[in-house]
Amino acid sequence: EKGGYDYFMLKEIAEQPKAVADTLLGRIDNAGSLTLDEVRIPASVLREVDKVVIVACGTAYHAGMIAKLAIEHWTRIPCETELASEFRYRDPILDRRTLVIAISQSGETMDTLMALRHAREQGAKVLAICNTNGSTIPRESDAVLYTHAGPEVAVASTKAFLTQLVACYLVALYLGQVRGTKWGDEIRAVIRELASIAQDVDQVLETMEPVRELARSLADKDTVLFLGRHVGYPVALEGALKLKELAYMHAEGFAAGELKHGPIALIEQDLPVVVVVPSPRGRSVLHDKIVSNIQEIRARGARTIVIAEVGDETVVPYADHLIRIPATPTLLQPLVATVPLQVFACELATARGNEVDQPRNLAKSVTVE
Ligand code: M6R
Repeated sequence: EKGGYDYFMLKEIAEQPKAVADTLLGRIDNAGSLTLDEVRIPASVLREVDKVVIVACGTAYHAGMIAKLAIEHWTRIPCETELASEFRYRDPILDRRTLVIAISQSGETMDTLMALRHAREQGAKVLAICNTNGSTIPRESDAVLYTHAGPEVAVASTKAFLTQLVACYLVALYLGQVRGTKWGDEIRAVIRELASIAQDVDQVLETMEPVRELARSLADKDTVLFLGRHVGYPVALEGALKLKELAYMHAEGFAAGELKHGPIALIEQDLPVVVVVPSPRGRSVLHDKIVSNIQEIRARGARTIVIAEVGDETVVPYADHLIRIPATPTLLQPLVATVPLQVFACELATARGNEVDQPRNLAKSVTVE
């Protein structure tokens, strides 16, 4: 049932191009518009939404952090993403014009379920993004957009994460489409790019051998840091989470702009630091800033592992290890940038002799608060 792979996680990493393509299937029409009729929240209601709140845990929360950036950019509706376990304990401000999006692979995560129950009690509409048909979270929501990742067995979430991202982009673009924003042209262009993004994911998977080698060479390290900005920040957090749960290593993700506010004190000779570099096109200010962050940490001895777009030559002089990813629109980059981090964590776990599919102390779905 592992389809020739040693672990379910490896199989699930490899299934990502298909999972992404399946999640898009039937949701983009021939004219390049989105058809999300299955999301049974009427367009009239979506047009009235004045705030979006995303609740989720763990990896799904990282997808939610990226969704916030996409929703705010394409729709200009204020959006906040919150850990489901924190959400209801702060008496959040919600009403009928709030759209709450609950993201969960299993559909059974108790923290997320409690958060959405609280939201509905306050009159908010709840849309679930879920991978498990008929599970509790979609059953208790007003509407659901299913991810089509297929069953995910490994405790560490991989293909579910990529499909959660796809679903979040679809919702963000759909809200933009329904409400009409000044980003109409960009929305159409991104939909076209999304339609072929599975091939980019596939391309990343084909170039992972050096990442595996690198991971093996770091098996005796204690700490790995991850840095990113904008959508690269949640990707950094996700890379760190994967490493914690699988390799049992001290791993932390930071927003690169925070370095000077504390974390740079951690940098010492030969400390591995993974940096997710945004596309040099589009938001080039961010790109310049991260290049100087890489220079800063390298000057202090860090061993830099740089994930950057094909053709981005500016990072070459400062990268001890360079991992290339295909060029994508800025907001879609997590779909390709996360994959090397999954492979990295899986390989490090194996090299350290850990149980990849069943890490210690963890359960696939967390049904207690
Ligand atoms: O089933 P859910 O998506 O609600 O699960 C949420 C988290 O428990 C889950 O993503 C967890 O963080 C994973 N083990 C991460 O790999």
